Amino acid sequence: MNLEYLSGFGNEFASEALPGALPVGQNSPQKAPYGLYTELFSGTAFTMARSEARRTWLYRIQPSANHPAFAKLERQLAGGPLGAVTPNRLRWNPLDSPSEPTDFIDGLVGMVANAGSEKPSGISIYHYRANRSMDRVFFNADGELLLVPEQGRLRIATELGVLDVEPLEIVVLPRGLKFRVELLDAQARGYVAENHGAPLRLPDLGPIGSNGLANPRDFLSPVAHYEDLKQPTTLVQKFLGELWACELDHSPLNVVAWHGNNVPYKYDLRRFNTIGTVSFDHPDPSIFTVLTSPTSTHGLANLDFVIFPPRWMVAENTFRPPWFHRNLMNEYMGLIQGAYDAKAEGFLPGGASLHSCMSAHGPDGETCTKAINVDLAPHKIDNTMAFMFETSQVLRPTQFALQCPQLQPSYDACWASLPATFNPNRR
Ligand SMILES: [Fe+2]
Repeated sequence: MNLEYLSGFGNEFASEALPGALPVGQNSPQKAPYGLYTELFSGTAFTMARSEARRTWLYRIQPSANHPAFAKLERQLAGGPLGAVTPNRLRWNPLDSPSEPTDFIDGLVGMVANAGSEKPSGISIYHYRANRSMDRVFFNADGELLLVPEQGRLRIATELGVLDVEPLEIVVLPRGLKFRVELLDAQARGYVAENHGAPLRLPDLGPIGSNGLANPRDFLSPVAHYEDLKQPTTLVQKFLGELWACELDHSPLNVVAWHGNNVPYKYDLRRFNTIGTVSFDHPDPSIFTVLTSPTSTHGLANLDFVIFPPRWMVAENTFRPPWFHRNLMNEYMGLIQGAYDAKAEGFLPGGASLHSCMSAHGPDGETCTKAINVDLAPHKIDNTMAFMFETSQVLRPTQFALQCPQLQPSYDACWASLPATFNPNRR
């Protein structure tokens, strides 16, 4: 198992598992080295601007086209269709670990989505729970996948190579990339954002300059690794929300060499260069953006992946927790470890919250009272990693998310204890 990595973001990488497997000077020679087949794997339309285009050339033992017809699987993704529309603020406790043998696909549970799976647009969000490795291979025709592990290390064997990830790291798998998720621990749990829009990229930095936030060199892509296995393998795909499968007589993870920029990658959130105020006030959380999927409206994201990592709080004369706010954007939050600085209790690692467009939210009563009265001194928020999937379209919960016992019945109550402090006679 080759676990070397190539570093950089959006680069034209090249990797070969056998010397000379990668053709030099052209993409599709009459005969590829070693009797390999050439295949183009495009993540964007051919005619996209060069700076936006994602594609990779694959040199593989069998072309992907060598497969029989797919048949719809009996067992479909958990979570069910979207449920009733609600403007309410929602919060969930962590989902239970499965009691039955459950791999990554069977352990995916749909929680919220911008649109029904038969007409995917925007983003869809899942939680995963698994207790066994996949013995099948999966690809998602519906979008790019951003995995945020919360418990358990994963080994993700992809067409382009192998990625090991652990909690506090993330991994991004391009739309259509074939992969198998193996567990390196007994249990695995985490979050998945499925991005139906433009591929994730690094945000522009504006006046921050040429360094900071997530730096390109810290993104790691795998080196080529192939399986030359002539054994029956089930290949599963998700297509318009439905799972379909076919039986192959070989492993589809059989790419010997590749070059391009449509690649899986991982990133260690602990390497995020967190930027904040050194004078007063609380900057907008956009300074915590790791990756963004833009829309055609400049500055409006289809998906922002934002983290709230350990950081120093030094602002003077400032209400330091996140302010009370109402947003155009829709916020789905999760917690990887520790506690989130805006909530005293009720928001647990593995749990989640949803604050939809224009729904009012902010620190709970206990956090607010403490923040107003505390003596301000430099203070480090440590042992924490919360994150947000933020999207410009409204997120609708699935039927499962609205009916599961993990949905907290009284989330609104956390703001009910805000004391009445207004006194017109005391400025
Ligand atoms: Fe918010």
